[in-house]
Parts: sequence; C-alpha cells; structure tokens
Amino acid sequence: MTYEIITHEYDVVVVGGGGAGLRAAMGMSQKGLKVACLSKVFPTRSHTVAAQGGISAALGNMGEDDWRFHFYDTIKGSDWLGDQDAIEYMCKEAIPAIIELEHFGVPFSRTAEGKIYQRAFGGMTTHYGQGTAQRTCAAADRTGHAILHTLYTQALKHKTEFFIEFIALDLIMDDEGACVGVLAWNLNDGTIHAFRAHQTVLATGGYGRAYFSCTSAHTCTGDGNAMVLRAGLPLQDMEFVQFHPTGIYGSGCLITEGVRGEGGYLTNSEGERFMPRYAPSAKDLASRDVVSRSMTIEIREGRGVGEHKDHIHLHLEHLDADIIHSRLPGIAETAKIFAGVDVTKEPIPVLPTVHYNMGGIPTNWRTEVVSPTATDPNRVVPGLMAIGEAACVSVHGANRLGSNSLLDLVVFGRAAAIRAAETVVPGTKHRKAGAASIEKALARFDKFRNADGNLKTSDIRMNMQRTMQNHAAVFRTGETLQEGCTKISDVFASKQDVKVADRSMVFNTDLVETLELDNLLSQAVVTLYSAENRKESRGAHAREDYPDRDDVNFMKHTVTWIDDVSGKTAIDYRPVILTTLTNEVEPVPPKKRVY
Ligand code: FUM
Repeated sequence: MTYEIITHEYDVVVVGGGGAGLRAAMGMSQKGLKVACLSKVFPTRSHTVAAQGGISAALGNMGEDDWRFHFYDTIKGSDWLGDQDAIEYMCKEAIPAIIELEHFGVPFSRTAEGKIYQRAFGGMTTHYGQGTAQRTCAAADRTGHAILHTLYTQALKHKTEFFIEFIALDLIMDDEGACVGVLAWNLNDGTIHAFRAHQTVLATGGYGRAYFSCTSAHTCTGDGNAMVLRAGLPLQDMEFVQFHPTGIYGSGCLITEGVRGEGGYLTNSEGERFMPRYAPSAKDLASRDVVSRSMTIEIREGRGVGEHKDHIHLHLEHLDADIIHSRLPGIAETAKIFAGVDVTKEPIPVLPTVHYNMGGIPTNWRTEVVSPTATDPNRVVPGLMAIGEAACVSVHGANRLGSNSLLDLVVFGRAAAIRAAETVVPGTKHRKAGAASIEKALARFDKFRNADGNLKTSDIRMNMQRTMQNHAAVFRTGETLQEGCTKISDVFASKQDVKVADRSMVFNTDLVETLELDNLLSQAVVTLYSAENRKESRGAHAREDYPDRDDVNFMKHTVTWIDDVSGKTAIDYRPVILTTLTNEVEPVPPKKRVY
C-alpha cells in the first residue's frame, strides 16, 4: 500500500512531551526557533507526571551545601561510570535551573522562611560523604506533576506547536547519515506526516515496560531508543537498569524515596531494621542499587515478610501525621488504594521494582547524539539530539541517585535549547531527505499493520516481560544471562508471527501496541546481550559470578547495535570521560564505593 505523506517544515522537532521535551521545546521557542513538539499522549499525561520525591540542587536552603558535594555524590552513585564533564555541568547548572523553574511558577513546598523546601535522598551527602544533605527540592510528593504542568504552560506561552497523539514511527536520515526529521502517524485521523527539521530532539523516555513489574507508565516503551537502533546507531550502557527499592508489592506503584528521606525505614520478618548491616553510615538512605540488593538478600535468606516471605516492610507510621499530610499526601493515598494500608497505622509492603534506565542514546553534554567509530569515540550525528531518560549523557553511569532524574530533564532540556539556538539558523533551507529511510519506515509500518500471523501481541509481550524479569534482575549470573539471551532472541524472532486484528489507520490501539512491542523487543535484546558481555559488578549490574568492580577491563561504556531483521547484536566500548569541563572542580578518581 502507498501512503500519502503530509510534510511540515520546522527549525526543530522535539519528539516527546514529558519534562525533558517540554523544557527543550519551550526554551527553543523562547529563543526564536520554530518548534514542533510531538507527543503520543497529551503532554501533561507524560510519565514525568508520576515523579514524586523531588529534584536535586545544592541550594543549601536546609543547611550547608555546595554543587561540588553534589558532583562527588553523583560520581560515586554512578560507580565511576558517569562522564565527569557532564556531571559537573548538571550539578553546577542545577542551581540556576531550579530558580528558573521557581520563576516559571512551579509550586514548590516552602520552609517557614519561604524558601524552597528540600528533603534528604539516598546517596546525597555533604563534605564528600561526611554528612547528610537535604538537597532534593520538593512539591510535596507530586514534584513531577508540578513541573510538568508548569513547563506545558510555558511552552504554550512561547508558541511551541503541539502535535498530540502523534506516534513517531522512525527517524528520517539523509544519505550521508544526518538526521533530517521524523516520520509520524496521527492516531486521530490516520494520516502520515513527515516533520522536516534541522535538529530532531528525542525526548521519548525509558523502556520500563520491557519488564513485567515496573513503576513506569504503559507508554514507557523507549520509542526513540528503538528508532535510533533502526537507524543503524548504537545505544549505550543498556545493561544498567535501576530497581527502585520501594515499589508496592503486587502492583509495582512507586512509593517515593522521600518517605525514607522524611524518616521512614525498612524492616524484615524479624522486625529488624536491616539496612545498617549493609550500609552502616547511610542506612536506609544508601544508593538505590545498594538498598535493592540488601532487600533481595533479606528475602533470599528467608527474612522476607508476608505469607510467602517475598517482600519487605516500609514504615512511616511513627512519623508525625502532619508530616505525612503535608509532605507525603500522595503516598498515603496510593498505599491505601494499591495496598489497602493506612500508613499512619501499618507498614507498606514493598519490593524492588524496575524504575529507570541509566542506558540510552549516547550523547555529549551538549545533548548531541554520539555514534562512535573506530577512530572517533565522540563522533556527533548531525541533526540529532537526545535528552532525558532516553539519553545516556552519561550523568548516571551505572546507578542514578534519586532526584537526579528530574534534574537531568530540566538541565539537559535547557542545554538542548541552548545548543539548538547556537547551531540552527531559523528558517533556512532543509537538507534533502533520504527517500530510502522513508520507504523503510513505511514498509515496517505497513508490515505490522497487515500482520496476519498466529501470535497475539500481548502473548509476545508477556514472553518478553517474563524473560527480562527473570534474566536481567537485581542479581545476575553468566548462566542466567546466557539463558536470557537465547530466550529473548527467540521472543524477538517470534514477532514475525504476530497478528494485528485491526487494519484501520484511525486510533488503532492494536497496531500502536504492536509497534511499541517491536520497539521494546530490540531494547530488551540489547539489554540482555550487553549485560552478558559485562563481566564485572558495577552499580545496578550485580553479577554473582563477578562480584567486584573491574576498572582495568570495564571502566568503559558499552555501545550496542542491533540488526533489526536478524536480531543480531554488535558490541563495542567507548571510554568514560574522567576529566572536568572547567577547573572549578577536581575530577574524582575511582575508589571503593561504600555507604
Ligand atoms: O522515589 C522517588 O521519588 C523517585 C525519584 C526519582 O526516581 O528520582
């Protein structure tokens, strides 16, 4: 079938209307660029809305703080896989970025003196690990909601043009490997659109839905990551998947780390506060990988709670009711709805749950997408940028600290706007689109639209999610990973036999879910193969057969390509950046990571 294409021309097209996409789009519009923002859901329903605990910045409102302490904590949190130039940029720029958000109208919680309220979060310290920092700026426990709504109104104010319920299908590349825009499907009327742009910005979020149990929305299918893979470009550090310690047992709903920041704690079946045994100094506020591993060990050793001894208790019933009502109102409601628990009287049943992807599209600190070659590990792909959870800048390395994610969205969304204004001359002529890339994208769309095999999309998805849950878990071994690689390759191959019952072009959710599944599958394959290849333990990648970090052989970023037809992967590595951007701070050399 041939598809008629409606063509649009913009200076920049931003794919994704979450925190990163909106911050970039509003900033670019403000700087005089003509900006289109595509979103597959209404922007204020993007997954940023679910972010609870807060956004980090060394404002020092609750006691002494310094962005250099934040820089050190983030590098240690990353288990020395984070790029130190980008981490310096993020931690220093955090301060003006938050003040800017305040001026945009984000309704932050306040101290008695009227300053932005800040709470403690895991791994955030003062004086390079000596004290506990209160660095996470909060709007009660609905910080993402507050930021997202504010940024959307700012984008409207600056005349960003929104294309809502448009699903991005593929990048449009020219014959020289530059990105010249994106092809999209308008769900509402079934039309196909080509957005031509000098810069295409991917702000499409993570791919949590590759797993069976996650805190992510159903929309978190990493569509931008998958488009990058189909364009023949690699993803970076995909083996690093964060498990948040406190997802509600059974439903996976997030219970913010802010609960522990406000004084909550974890116990096992013996009623023991076990975290001091694993992290004597930070205790319940150690980094997430450490807390998730400790909880998993407690359960494995028979000290889990409940009938099946398969989860852990999170207590906040000792906290002052005023704190719960003013600082954690959403948590009280969520615990009641999803666990039937009154948090003022009983603990919440929790379990480590997939929450965040440290890996993604490799970029430099200016947010330009990087595709390494044998001679140039930092080669920039012309016309393509990536931000937010979709990107791997890499500021989180092997493990992200809580509240550094909202920060990443706004700092690098803002950086993308700065870079686009430097590189794009408004209204200039567009590069010629490569006809081959448009044809390939339409052929994929048409193939799935007419897919008439024997397998339901939901069955293939379940096979993928169970494989990921069992084989790319909190703890991994060579054996479980190799088995996982074989299984996920089989699941990937099974997509050829999918059946899409609905052939229509208008609001065909059957087809949407199949396209999303295809996107998830390539990322699941890349995750498992990258994990199998990394023979060490670092941050969220904990291998029982290689329990130690191996800086000699593995202090490097994994870059992985996939052939979309055969599902075969190719893996290479690129160096971690261990130098800073300025001389305002010294690089932090690797050392043992204890909390
Ligand atoms: O626990 C939380 O509120 C989550 C925050 C984050 O992932 O940054």
